[in-house]
Amino acid sequence: MSHLSEGGQPENDALKSDVRDFWNRASCGEELLLPSTDREGYLAQTRARYELEPYIPGFAKFKDARGLRVLEIGVGLGADHQSFAEAGAEMTGVDLTPRAIEHTRRRLELFGLKSQLACGDAEKLPFADASFDVVYSWGVLHHSPNTPQAFREVHRVLKPGGTARIMIYSKYSLIGLMLWIRYGLLRLRPWTSLTEIYDKYLESPGTKAYTVAGARQLCAPFASASIETVMTHGDLLTSEAGQRHRGLALSIARVVWPRWLFKIVAPKSGLFMLIECHKAASK
Ligand SMILES: C[S@@+](CC[C@H](N)C(=O)[O-])C[C@H]1O[C@@H](n2cnc3c(N)ncnc32)[C@H](O)[C@@H]1O
Repeated sequence: MSHLSEGGQPENDALKSDVRDFWNRASCGEELLLPSTDREGYLAQTRARYELEPYIPGFAKFKDARGLRVLEIGVGLGADHQSFAEAGAEMTGVDLTPRAIEHTRRRLELFGLKSQLACGDAEKLPFADASFDVVYSWGVLHHSPNTPQAFREVHRVLKPGGTARIMIYSKYSLIGLMLWIRYGLLRLRPWTSLTEIYDKYLESPGTKAYTVAGARQLCAPFASASIETVMTHGDLLTSEAGQRHRGLALSIARVVWPRWLFKIVAPKSGLFMLIECHKAASK
């Protein structure tokens, strides 16, 4: 089933249930990165994460969050949550899945760190208006069926003058191109749109990706937004692919993928769009 139509609430709820099921089978990166759920396992996952995605600490600005009230939406395995807590932030975290909340709770307990963690939905955050100095969300809001509503919720729960740091997927990415070659071109369906490709083949069903103009629309409630796209290990095929992708075609692609050329001619064609937006300060 495709999820491309702008559905009403019943469709939204059905898709969200599929998204929850997908991420509750394995939290993001679990099978690739996590040898075991003890301190060593989680430390190894953190190391591997920041080696593969070295732009995360610079974007998240963990150390600047000391003493601030930070909400993370979509905690996953909890590596960034741990980094914020270690930097001295006062942490709250939500995720759609019990699995991610259990991982993050266990992880923080193992390291003697504190956070208010609960299952929760980005589109209906269980917090009062103006509760947080910072809202952080990495690779999450594009999985939620009503992404504009999730952005409105981020704006609502931020204090005036607060900052949101959000990563969502960028539409014209090399990963998008790769998936289009595999699921469009090689299946003799070159008319398959990138929207359908992300919806059906990237990760959880209904995943979306945005142009810069589309991201600016999502940020409309905010006073300002800066947007940057980064090239990822997935775009350059320098790592294992995500949990859905395996096989001969991928092994061949790894050999023939012209990384050096893409870096020169399309340096902005990465999957990750890093958005920092600010809520207007009260007058
Ligand atoms: C790709 S993983 C990213 C997890 C983590 N931020 C990371 O970078 O590893 C996506 C996460 O978003 C969560 N998620 C998806 N839709 C959500 C929603 N509406 N509200 C809260 N969490 C959601 C999923 O359960 C999953 O844990």
